[in-house]
Amino acid sequence: MGDILVIGSMNMDMTVRVKELPKAGETILAQNMSYGLGGKGANQAFAAARLGGKVRMLGCVGDDDFGRKQLQALEGAGVDVSDIKIDRTTSTGSAFICVEENGSNCIVVDQGANLSCDESYLTKQREAICASDIVLAQMEIPEGALYRAILDAEQANKKIILNPAPAPERIPDEIYSRIDYLTPNETELMRLSGMAEIPADCDDYKEALQEGTQRLLDKGVKTIIVTLGDKGCGVFKKGYTAYYPARPVEAVDTTAAGDCFNGAFAAALSEGMTEVEAVEFAISASAIAVTRNGAQDSLPLRSEVESLLTAEKEAV
Ligand code: RIB
Repeated sequence: MGDILVIGSMNMDMTVRVKELPKAGETILAQNMSYGLGGKGANQAFAAARLGGKVRMLGCVGDDDFGRKQLQALEGAGVDVSDIKIDRTTSTGSAFICVEENGSNCIVVDQGANLSCDESYLTKQREAICASDIVLAQMEIPEGALYRAILDAEQANKKIILNPAPAPERIPDEIYSRIDYLTPNETELMRLSGMAEIPADCDDYKEALQEGTQRLLDKGVKTIIVTLGDKGCGVFKKGYTAYYPARPVEAVDTTAAGDCFNGAFAAALSEGMTEVEAVEFAISASAIAVTRNGAQDSLPLRSEVESLLTAEKEAV
């Protein structure tokens, strides 16, 4: 089994459930409010470990209750947290999440201690990068430090999965060419490829995905997996496109669905599944996650994903 190294953020999530997401200038009342553990990095590490991956995580928390809870939860899921930095000068990152009735959400992140996952910290972690087989990262930590780690990982021949969330205006070309799997959602793909909003009409929609992914494939990314919510995902390489449908489930909260997909995909690759098997595994895992509230609280066990995959095979 290959070792997975997750480099990324850890947050305390404050979630309000609302009927509809508020518009600019509007004040609305929440139906309820809850605290939970989150952060794209922590969610992906937690998902991968829960699903059977051997996972180590790099990132930073503050010296506070939220940070301690996060480390406990990750350790409980089987993640090696020994190299996570505790920054005594700042607080653990926090995320403010609004989830509407159909399960869609919007998120604002205050990075807090995630900003201390900087170049000086990640440079000291070169050994951990070299000891891993798969490096899985997202974009809630300082960009420069992340790019440095990606260059180190590529030099050491690691498989690199970058979930470009939240998507910056641009990623340098020299980084794109180092990425084995880029895993944006539609919005992130449009932003990175500099395209306008994605059209609703089916043909135009697929054409837009094709054009957006082509622009990034031209920059050297080997494979792009675009997560498409209840439409499943698309896999794009030079001269190759394949769509995989989502499982028919009723979504209550889509928070961390993408994280679940990325963690599950990395776990599946680390145990030698083919790319297609890993995509199917990840789709099933995230189908379970969206039927539950919260971020880490929603992430499935291996046995649950296997039951769903078996039920699907039997239904064919
Ligand atoms: O992807 C979901 C996550 O995004 C949340 O857990 C929140 O912390 C933000 O990082």
